[in-house]
Amino acid sequence: MVKKYRIGTPVNTEAVTESFDIEKTDSFPLSLEINENVILSFPLENDDMIFGLGENVRGINKRGWTYESWCSDETNHTEDKRALYGAHNFIVLSGKDKFGLFVDYPSKIEWDLGNTSPEMAAIKIFGKDLDLYFIDGESELDIVKQFRKIIGKSYIPPFWAFGYQQSCWGYAKQEDFVKVRENHKKNNLPLDCIYMDIDYMDSFKDFTVNKKLFPDFEAFVREMKENNIHLIPIIDAGVKKEKGYSVHDEGHENGYFCIDKDGREFECGVWPGIVGLPDFLNKDARRWFGSKYKELLDIGVDGFWNDMNEPALFYSKKGLEKAFKKLDDIRSREMDIWSFFGSKDAVLGIQNSMDDYKSFYHNIDGKKVCHKDVHNIYGAFMTKAAGEYFEEEYGREKKLIFSRASYIGAHRTSGIWFGDNFSWWSHILLNLKMLPSVNMCGFLYCGADIGGFNSHATRDLLLRWLALGVFTPLMRNHRALGTRAQEAYQFGDTRDFSDVLSVRYRLIPYIYETFRRCSDENDMMFKPLAFEYPDDKIAREVEDQLMLGNECMIAPVYEQNKSGRNVYLPEDMTFVKLSGENVYKEEMKKGLHYVEIALNEVPLFIKRGKNIPLAKPALNTAELDVEKLENLL
Ligand code: GLC
Repeated sequence: MVKKYRIGTPVNTEAVTESFDIEKTDSFPLSLEINENVILSFPLENDDMIFGLGENVRGINKRGWTYESWCSDETNHTEDKRALYGAHNFIVLSGKDKFGLFVDYPSKIEWDLGNTSPEMAAIKIFGKDLDLYFIDGESELDIVKQFRKIIGKSYIPPFWAFGYQQSCWGYAKQEDFVKVRENHKKNNLPLDCIYMDIDYMDSFKDFTVNKKLFPDFEAFVREMKENNIHLIPIIDAGVKKEKGYSVHDEGHENGYFCIDKDGREFECGVWPGIVGLPDFLNKDARRWFGSKYKELLDIGVDGFWNDMNEPALFYSKKGLEKAFKKLDDIRSREMDIWSFFGSKDAVLGIQNSMDDYKSFYHNIDGKKVCHKDVHNIYGAFMTKAAGEYFEEEYGREKKLIFSRASYIGAHRTSGIWFGDNFSWWSHILLNLKMLPSVNMCGFLYCGADIGGFNSHATRDLLLRWLALGVFTPLMRNHRALGTRAQEAYQFGDTRDFSDVLSVRYRLIPYIYETFRRCSDENDMMFKPLAFEYPDDKIAREVEDQLMLGNECMIAPVYEQNKSGRNVYLPEDMTFVKLSGENVYKEEMKKGLHYVEIALNEVPLFIKRGKNIPLAKPALNTAELDVEKLENLL
């Protein structure tokens, strides 16, 4: 049973699609303080666990830390952080008492989940215009399903988007892409998509293509498609301020950019230099920006990734001036330890500064609204601009679109990726932990940068990460400019990589069907073990294994120099290792086990009485025979 409570006059975030009667706040089941801010609190019993908050740091059980809802361009996904790129304000309390809570509010929220006081959860909403949804249910999954029902069905991408995808910030010219394609082919490494990062654009201008690098882009896209490769260009939120550049001119003439307090277009610096921020919260601007993708779609591109849409602001003119002034002050004095750190802070503090977020405005149905008050829906609305346009023009499931920033509601038209992680072993585990949390919030099409975005991948790290990625709907290897090359053919002998990637293609029919079913039934593709075995104390606390669909459990290796791992079986299962066309099977009893897993093997556990289909390996989804399937067991 879902109940809705309203405080003040909230902005329409478009998160919830069902309509509700509004209950009186006096009857709200948790403690509720309404002043300048709103504070919700509830006691925590010893055994209580808290699930949710979508894309964030730390565990599957979120208890014991303070998180924030504030879409952040945060490249260091370390434990001390409080927020990443998405704001996913949904939690489920799991204990003797069970409930779900969705705070529908587009600005900052602080979630102190048993941190300040281990016996107390306190949620501070920095404002007093919001909707609260309180959900009672029989089980954690029942609560999630009720929530998912009120926010609407999850986005389903085209079938080919379940193939393996290669990306790199730094592929610039046509030959770079051809090389990636040919190297995969030559080494028997499957591939469906190659991503185009900012390098393809003319001076980092959205919806342009650098003519020197791509003299005949249309022919290039066609030729790649004939070879079963989809090219997926990036689109950034900021639009370069340059007279004569049509996207800028149209946006400028129609008043589609965010403005400052004096009504002038807000200017800040991102990749192209000074940009204007399209006002995706203005309905006309949103429709206009969505239609801008048409030019590339007409050329034959059929997928995009939207980036820097928290929005990420490298600097604003004002912020820069302030920093320079501070540095000048310091220069005029003798440097001491305080001025040294002060100068560092002055420079680093200009990026994504709250002062800047406070200094520009949106036009929401004719009302001027400060960005700070609606920050968390900006990126979501950018991606909805695209997703809605694609659905209107081409129909559902035709185009691929996913975003870095997100808010619940965007899950209906797009997927997400987990942003700029590192080539760290701990980030394989973080990738795993985020999967059930984002599924709870409706985001099914998701995945992390496999191999790690920042820093330098090693061969074993990539293989182990791929063995998890084999199960994630978005399976993309991506890295930053200047990091060690990490395509599957960069580490000498490619046979191990081919073995692991072949497993992905063998599993695609199962993954795709499970994905569709989860979208249809508002189910989670990945669940914490606690959701399926609530009475099993060990299972409840497992943080490095997940249930997949209704049939399987996954338990990847995520540590270096390990030839296997410990795994907990909450019931009798069949242990399976998949590698190329090989399948190893072993019956196992409920309990703790150590299993050996080689670098070219993908471990999987199948529940008793269940089975899953396997296809023959293929080099891309177009060549995948989805009719001729065999049972794994
Ligand atoms: C951001 C994105 C990353 C991309 C880079 C350059 O850091 O998160 O994926 O490669 O920008 O566009």
